[in-house]
Amino acid sequence: MGGVEFGRTFFFGTNLKMHQTASETVAFLDGLAESLALDDPRMQYFVLPPFTSLAAVARHFARPALWIGAQNMHWAASGAFTGEISAPMLREFDLDLVMLGHAERRQHFGETDATVHRKIRAAFDHGLRVLLCVGESAADHTEGRGIERVRSQLRSALEGVSVEEARALLVAYEPVWSIGEAGVPAELDEVASVVDAMRNDLDERFGLEVRPPVLYGGSVDRTNCGAFAAIPAIDGLFVGRAAWSVAGFAETAARTRAARFGDAG
Ligand code: PGA
Repeated sequence: MGGVEFGRTFFFGTNLKMHQTASETVAFLDGLAESLALDDPRMQYFVLPPFTSLAAVARHFARPALWIGAQNMHWAASGAFTGEISAPMLREFDLDLVMLGHAERRQHFGETDATVHRKIRAAFDHGLRVLLCVGESAADHTEGRGIERVRSQLRSALEGVSVEEARALLVAYEPVWSIGEAGVPAELDEVASVVDAMRNDLDERFGLEVRPPVLYGGSVDRTNCGAFAAIPAIDGLFVGRAAWSVAGFAETAARTRAARFGDAG
């Protein structure tokens, strides 16, 4: 799992959600390989395709410079869980990470802090890197409970996780009310204060040496990515719709990199 300097590398990735067939994903990744400077050590790109694309991606790319991850998994290694995918199944594809607790999983598929916690336990037990998603609902936000809610999601998800395991952890802050077609981008100062609170909790929990990266996501696009990327406490951007085309991904990534590192190249 080496190669990345946590604390210095800026992460930029997309969750493809339920988009793209296996052949579409291969073409998308081919396009990204042509359009991005994948050897820039300051940036770590990642793509989370649907499960059905993972085998084709593994066959097509010997070892892609961008990280490939899964969007979810079950906590059991195997069992009578129709339609589910387990950590050992993902391990076969030599994935770089698995995302757990995305807002749409919580919203539409009954995922709770407790199930997210079980999944995190299983992912670390099977040696997978985890991208944990947290974020408050619209109601929590308008009623002023945003930070409290996010801190409690973090606490329950990470219960029992060791300092060593936290080295393979990334966290994405994605306010539920800012995700997707109906979402509105969050205010920069609000994002900064939630991320600061998360940072403090993570530092307290795992110490200053580990510092799991904290990414921001929710209606990030080419017009606002620079402003988010310039928030020093943010270690990466997690993009949906705006990065589902090669051109969209490449332009948003280029603007992000320019804003973060103050250069165009
Ligand atoms: P969006 O999705 O950028 O389309 O709002 C973000 C996400 O769900 O991670």
